Amino acid sequence: MRIFRVMLLLLIILGLTFSVAFAKKHLPEERGKTLFNDAKSFGGSKACNECHPNGKGLEKAGDKKVFNIMGMTQKSLEEAVNVCIVNANKGKALDVKSEQMKDMAAYIKSLKKMPDKKAAGY
Ligand code: HEC
Repeated sequence: MRIFRVMLLLLIILGLTFSVAFAKKHLPEERGKTLFNDAKSFGGSKACNECHPNGKGLEKAGDKKVFNIMGMTQKSLEEAVNVCIVNANKGKALDVKSEQMKDMAAYIKSLKKMPDKKAAGY
């Protein structure tokens, strides 16, 4: 029954290939977090994390429709992110539809899901 052994081996190889491929893919919010913590992400000099440590203060941003940063009004989360990229990070604004912007938005939206210890009564 040599054919079975060959098939089994092929299946194992296939399985390994897939698990390696999937292990490399992180969730969008994880990629967003990496961008958030790296000062150089957008060609700037100050990480988002330096002013918003661990996303602190941005918990509600994922649900907001209108933002007001530095005396300017923004009508979307993406616009707000770009204002901070340009004015605070001193980097280059992102294309609103870019993968990086999607990852960043996913990270900011994930912040509201973090358990609020006080609200939960711990
Ligand atoms: C130099 C400090 C600084 C840096 C760096 C910075 N921000 Fe901000 N950010 C602010 C300030 C100040 C505000 C307006 C006040 C507030 O809402 O906390 C703000 C507001 C925001 C808001 C709107 C929050 C709300 O609910 O209205 C978002 C979203 C945001 N920042 C994302 C980012 C992202 C993403 C980065 C990295 C590219 C970044 N910020 C880098 C200072 C900074």
